[in-house]
Amino acid sequence: MTKPLEGIKIIDFTHVQAGPACTQLLAWYGADVIKVERPGAGDVTRSQLRDIPGVDALYFTMLNSNKKSLTLDTKTPEGKEVLTRLIKQSDVLVENFGPGALDRMGFTWEHIRELNPGMIVASVKGFSDGHHYEDLKVYENVAQCAGGAASTTGFDDGPPTVSAAALGDSNTGMHLAIGILTALHARNRNGGKGQKVAVSMQDSVLNLCRVKLRDQQRLDRIGYLEEYPQYPHGSFTDVVPRGGNAGGGGQPGWVLKCKGWETDKNAYIYFTIQGHAWAPICKAIGKPEWIEDPAYMTASARQDKIFDIFGTIEAWLADKTKFEAVNILRKFDIPCAPVMTMKELANDPSLRESGTITEVDHKERGKYLTVGSPIKFSDLKVEITGSPLLGEHTNEVLETLGYSSKEIAALHAASAV
Ligand code: COA
Repeated sequence: MTKPLEGIKIIDFTHVQAGPACTQLLAWYGADVIKVERPGAGDVTRSQLRDIPGVDALYFTMLNSNKKSLTLDTKTPEGKEVLTRLIKQSDVLVENFGPGALDRMGFTWEHIRELNPGMIVASVKGFSDGHHYEDLKVYENVAQCAGGAASTTGFDDGPPTVSAAALGDSNTGMHLAIGILTALHARNRNGGKGQKVAVSMQDSVLNLCRVKLRDQQRLDRIGYLEEYPQYPHGSFTDVVPRGGNAGGGGQPGWVLKCKGWETDKNAYIYFTIQGHAWAPICKAIGKPEWIEDPAYMTASARQDKIFDIFGTIEAWLADKTKFEAVNILRKFDIPCAPVMTMKELANDPSLRESGTITEVDHKERGKYLTVGSPIKFSDLKVEITGSPLLGEHTNEVLETLGYSSKEIAALHAASAV
């Protein structure tokens, strides 16, 4: 089967997580992704958080599957020459270096465009071009703080809190992938002209926090936010507060204890009180008298006692495990889910079946688990292959660029590759 992105050649100048997550996604869908790494060292994640001495860390293997690895010192004249040839033959260059690094290497956007007018240059930076923080280097949690996630996450009586989800890194990479595909589509329509695509981590986090900007404007206008736990018994300042586990939208929700919570830190479910599901909820939790009770029957009547209601539901949950509870509640069409641990997800048969959790073979590590494509296609079965060893494809790539074996040997001798 031909893969949708087959024939698209990508120079993957990315490292750590934000950029690699983007190029990995494109590689899954068929792009020829050549990861360019510094000889001897490679992407820093190869050696960070290692669990097996001397073997590429899971941090690397889980973000660089389906790629090739070319070692290249782009600060040597020979290395620059190789990169120049590569640029002339490629469709996309993706990078997430610190601000200005590509320019300092001598590969400005103008120069790349001269070499290959069809080239799409896609960049991740911490902040957008022209931003007053544009010179800053940025990692995940820095972006979560800069993009509004941290100030709105956690509990009211605690500090700003970052999410475990990679809102700054992988999320930015996904935004960049959309940008690249858009630019490729545009190139097909405008006579093959490439363009620059830039995504900042701050912007990508803020894009996911757009509902909090919604709330800021509602707060500015009316002074309170009904769906937050601070309402109606607590107080608001002039900024969107941390809402704990509140539903956040129009449906109140909370994380509720289930059987075993005293010893199992994840014996919880998320329970949502969807307005039109009030009658089924009452039936499910054994409170049919609440269905027609004016003190409970509307969302606004329930609001001032929402935590008492959650308390009643917790009492009902006390003799049910999180899985048993969800199995009962699903029959009443109540939006809910068990709080899943990583261990449970790793062993979840449905996720294994769909390929969302998949086992991959690595030449040195053996088998390991990774997260497969979260996007499913009717006409594409995404196959995840192991990540490349450092420089595994150097000679192969050089050959495709037209280097003879003698020239390749010279590049090795000059430590350019
Ligand atoms: N050959 C020669 N030099 C290379 C090279 C290669 N193959 N690959 C990288 N380098 C050089 C760069 O040119 C740069 O040199 P310079 O600063 O002397 O010009 C140097 O390596 C360091 O690059 P940099 O990206 O700044 O690395 P860092 O480790 O100092 O910073 C980050 C790491 C992630 C903080 C930074 O890259 C960054 O802010 N990136 C943008 C935001 C981002 O993506 N962050 C999320 C990471 S998940």
